Amino acid sequence: MRAFTPGAAIDKLDLFAGRLDQIMDVLRALDQRGQHVVLYGERGVGKTSLANVLAELNVTRGTQTARLPSVSVNCSKKDDFASIWYHLLRDLGVAPSNLEAIDLTPEDVRHALDAVKEPTLVIIDEVDRLDNASETHMLLADTVKTLSDHSSAITLVLVGVADSVEGLVGEHPSTERALSQVLMPRMSPVELGEIVDKGLAQMHMGIAPAAKARITHLSEGLPHYTHLLTLFAVQRAIADDRDDVQDTDVTSAITMAEKKAQHTIKSAYQRATRSTRPKSLFERVLTACALADKDDLGYFSAGAVREPMAAIMGKPYDIPAFARHLNEFASAVRGDVLTRSGQSRRYFYRFDNPMLQPYVILKAISNGLITEGQIRRLQIQRGAFPSAS
Ligand SMILES: Nc1ncnc2c1ncn2[C@@H]1O[C@H](COP(=O)(O)OP(=O)(O)OP(=O)(O)O)[C@@H](O)[C@H]1O
Ligand SMILES: [Mg+2]
Repeated sequence: MRAFTPGAAIDKLDLFAGRLDQIMDVLRALDQRGQHVVLYGERGVGKTSLANVLAELNVTRGTQTARLPSVSVNCSKKDDFASIWYHLLRDLGVAPSNLEAIDLTPEDVRHALDAVKEPTLVIIDEVDRLDNASETHMLLADTVKTLSDHSSAITLVLVGVADSVEGLVGEHPSTERALSQVLMPRMSPVELGEIVDKGLAQMHMGIAPAAKARITHLSEGLPHYTHLLTLFAVQRAIADDRDDVQDTDVTSAITMAEKKAQHTIKSAYQRATRSTRPKSLFERVLTACALADKDDLGYFSAGAVREPMAAIMGKPYDIPAFARHLNEFASAVRGDVLTRSGQSRRYFYRFDNPMLQPYVILKAISNGLITEGQIRRLQIQRGAFPSAS
């Protein structure tokens, strides 16, 4: 349970996989005075894990190697500008003595932070929990601006899902210049494979390459599923008194992951697919959506649903045959399982909860709607996994 943590962000470097590009982007900003960072991506891609391990990095400057000084805070619904900064300024040891008494402004924060001389990361995670377009957002944007203008030693790292970031960056044109926007895409199969390897190494266990490939491809870039599937597969291997994970362990892990999924995920699936008619298409169209080619923020077009739909149905299916289903998925009747944006005839869709997408695929395998071989062929077709390891 320590090696595989489907429910908790990583906080130790030795279990952290991949993400070199994003780490380098943050470090570059750290070395540029006046530059700050916003780290954004879909829910569950690993934003908090990256923010956590930034504090664990050893960085070499000249002849000195040392831990990066950093402080961090997780926003909650109740937080406002003052409560976020009370916490951070205290942790940095630079809180003004009359902190409780004053109504903290961005200028007060900048002034207090002037006492910090060493390059230091200040991480504000879960900015999406704050009310969008709230005063707090505006004040945070002002803080970025004033820290940047005064070339503070502090590098702010604001972390959140994409929509919240637009709100933050949109405040002033000049915050846009002061903020490097670092996108956290879904993880590649190679990065996900590293999660499997690092966890198994801690347990002195091994895995057959084909079994590992199944886990990393079925995870659809979401590390939660890599942790979950490997955890179940490992438990099964241990129950059989083996120290290597085999193909059959993965097969049973798929069933387990589908059965033991969170109630909220299962009920979202039920709501989206239920029908009084036995031959309804909803389950199949949702599965095709889960397998459709997506961009870095999880969006796909109706056209991208065609190929997987044809694979599931065993014959060509064109958009008019499932347009009504897509529409309903993006409505309250089916629990808004998809979010729709763009204009008529050029709509883009995405799973409102990205965690549902791999679940839909696992469920389709269990229900016999599609085989893993077919899924792999679709993944290769859409160029998701060029090396097809
Ligand atoms: N680089 C990584 N290496 C290994 N495991 C990871 C990595 N990144 C994320 N994970 C795992 O993926 C899951 C989700 O990670 P995390 O909580 O960091 O995502 P998040 O983007 O902050 O999610 P949310 O949007 O819900 O805040 C956790 O189980 C975590 O352990
Ligand atoms: Mg997080």
